[in-house]
Amino acid sequence: MTLAELENAKAESLKEIAAANDAAAVEALRVKYVGRNGSIPALIKAMKDVPKEERPAGGGSSGEKPVDADLTLPGRWWGLGVKHPLSRVIEETAAIFGRLGFTVADGPELETKFNNFTALNTPAHHPSMDRSDTFWFGEDCLLRTQTSPVQIRTMMANKPPIRVICPGRTYRRDTTDATHSANFHQIEGLYVDTKPVSLADLKSVLAYFAKEMMGDGVTVRFRPHFFPFTEPSVEVDFTCHVCKGKGCNVCKQSGWIEVAGAGMVDPRVFGHVGYDPEKVSGYAFGFGVERIAMIKYGIPDIRWLYENDVRFLSQLA
Ligand code: DAH
Repeated sequence: MTLAELENAKAESLKEIAAANDAAAVEALRVKYVGRNGSIPALIKAMKDVPKEERPAGGGSSGEKPVDADLTLPGRWWGLGVKHPLSRVIEETAAIFGRLGFTVADGPELETKFNNFTALNTPAHHPSMDRSDTFWFGEDCLLRTQTSPVQIRTMMANKPPIRVICPGRTYRRDTTDATHSANFHQIEGLYVDTKPVSLADLKSVLAYFAKEMMGDGVTVRFRPHFFPFTEPSVEVDFTCHVCKGKGCNVCKQSGWIEVAGAGMVDPRVFGHVGYDPEKVSGYAFGFGVERIAMIKYGIPDIRWLYENDVRFLSQLA
């Protein structure tokens, strides 16, 4: 078939299509032209008989013309997505601690009582175990209330030295308001070694993290505290990154913002995972991802982090 014949066939078929005035007629034309034995598939097969010089033009006629538009027009912009602030904090934390030799460990959200409480030296009567504070599934199974059980899993599966951070979801029976959510995220850190590890090591690592995450001029201070799984335990404050410690509304004029809990791993925890407390020492820390995201990006309400409102998320691009 020549190009001229092809053009005629096309004009003929367009006429027939225009003349079809009910659904049955359109269906008959569909079968005639594009059905399995229709004439367009036959044409495509017949392309091999079209003279070589006419083939590119013929191909354009038998198939659908790709575009009628001006190819020099700029493309359509669909917008680039941005990473969610929680993912960004988790990824940045992994990168910062990665530079210090820490790897990322993972654990399940559904945990045993042993890993979430007992092995972490939590006394049997501790209020956090209460049915009104924790989502329990039977006697021994719960939605983890903290990422600390990943410490236990990591130590049980490995020998020191251990350097891990463990990001993940955690659950508490909190009512949701501007600063609480029943599901939130934490990042746990753990360093255990057979050579002596000190509180000074912990402080230097957290000071590096504070500076890398929040900017120059941000450092840490420790305040004595209590956690069942660390002894001594501290609460960790970062210098307020907005006023650099001078005092402003963000830090309620104190110059400091409370960020994490930390301490030296309690010897009883080592006992629970089968380590000899005389031979190993280490530190641990844990902080809320939402908290870091909220202070870093100035987000006043935790719920904004879960609503997936593009008007909010795109401001953090
Ligand atoms: N698990 C603690 C919490 O949820 C945070 C924490 C404090 C983790 C001290 C630690 C630590 O590893 O040493 O409040």
